[in-house]
Amino acid sequence: MLNIGVLVSGGGTNLQAIIDGTKFGKIKGEVKVVISNKENAYALERARHNNIEAVYETNENEIIRVLKENNVNLVVLAGYLKIVSPKFVNEFRNKIINIHPSLIPSFCGEGYYGEKVHQGVIDYGVKVTGATVHFVDEGADTGPIIMQEVVMVSQEDDAKSVARKVLEVEHRILNNSIKLFCENKLSIQGRRVFINE
Ligand code: GRF
Repeated sequence: MLNIGVLVSGGGTNLQAIIDGTKFGKIKGEVKVVISNKENAYALERARHNNIEAVYETNENEIIRVLKENNVNLVVLAGYLKIVSPKFVNEFRNKIINIHPSLIPSFCGEGYYGEKVHQGVIDYGVKVTGATVHFVDEGADTGPIIMQEVVMVSQEDDAKSVARKVLEVEHRILNNSIKLFCENKLSIQGRRVFINE
């Protein structure tokens, strides 16, 4: 059973999906601690409702200490709106997973987060978007990709409707990626991630 630490900044629907996945045995892991850089993030409420340690912390050294204190083997960035430092990446090398609401390498990196991603999709006029789960390295949204799933963009869509469709995909592929990680079925060769079913 792996110990999972989740970093959040917002509403925590991805966190909720992870909690549900661990609660019903789909994920062989336990969420030990949820840490947010936003004191009033509803994601912290979700943690409290599930008797999970909920910590408001902005100092990254403190965040590392709390994760280590909980013997965390997997760190999940679930709507966490800060770029973690190279020091943080080193502390948890290849043990940090991020969910991004586009098909990386499109609409990602500096300034692309939340609604801005989907507005970029609408403004550019792409016909497909989606979500990406990837390992975190020193860059912004640049680590090896674990899983992606496509969402069609229709002529009736706007940023909000695309966001809704993508969020559902996020929950699904994030859960599946964490499940595979906890079952030690992911391996990395250079930039490629292999799933060893
Ligand atoms: C969402 O825009 C999601 O795409 C991104 O972070 C935002 C908040 O997600 N990963 P959540 O509801 O807080 O998990």
